[in-house]
Amino acid sequence: MKNQTQPTGQLVIQIVAMPADTNANGDIFGGWLVSYMDMGAGIAAKRQAASRAVTVAIDSLIFIKPVSVGDTVSFYANLLKVGRTSMQFKIEAWTMAIHEEKNNKVAEGLFTFVAIDDQGRPHPVVRNTTTNCR
Ligand SMILES: CC(C)(COP(=O)(O)OP(=O)(O)OC[C@H]1O[C@@H](n2cnc3c(N)ncnc32)[C@H](O)[C@@H]1OP(=O)(O)O)[C@@H](O)C(=O)NCCC(=O)NCCS
Repeated sequence: MKNQTQPTGQLVIQIVAMPADTNANGDIFGGWLVSYMDMGAGIAAKRQAASRAVTVAIDSLIFIKPVSVGDTVSFYANLLKVGRTSMQFKIEAWTMAIHEEKNNKVAEGLFTFVAIDDQGRPHPVVRNTTTNCR
């Protein structure tokens, strides 16, 4: 994990961390990162399923490095598996600090989404893909 120098997957969200998103230490609050990871997985899931999709599980989450105010944070989605109605994504969060050339992976986690119909019931995902998050 520490040796990874470049993100894997498809860029789904990019945002600058702001002072309002900090914790008591002055670093970015973990819940802020998780919320964007969940949103990024949701974007990828909706694209994959071509329908609404909801989070059913977050199975692991690792915070690797702190995020600072002003960092550009980029979220990448990797489709790991597709079930009948579910999809599992690995989401990576990476930062690029203002005065740094290097990308740093700051968090990663596994997010499972379920494709739902207009009534909120699970419905089958089209298993069409050999590519990541079409
Ligand atoms: C997600 C939801 C629609 C699933 O409904 P359900 O009736 O439990 O559906 P099922 O039991 O048929 O399971 C649907 C799929 O989810 C998977 N699943 C269910 N619980 C799971 C869990 N804890 N972890 C991983 N996958 C899970 C099932 O394996 C199944 O996958 P498959 O069809 O690919 O085999 C329902 O639980 C729900 O609405 N949950 C609330 C979602 C929510 O509000 N999320 C937060 C905001 S987006």
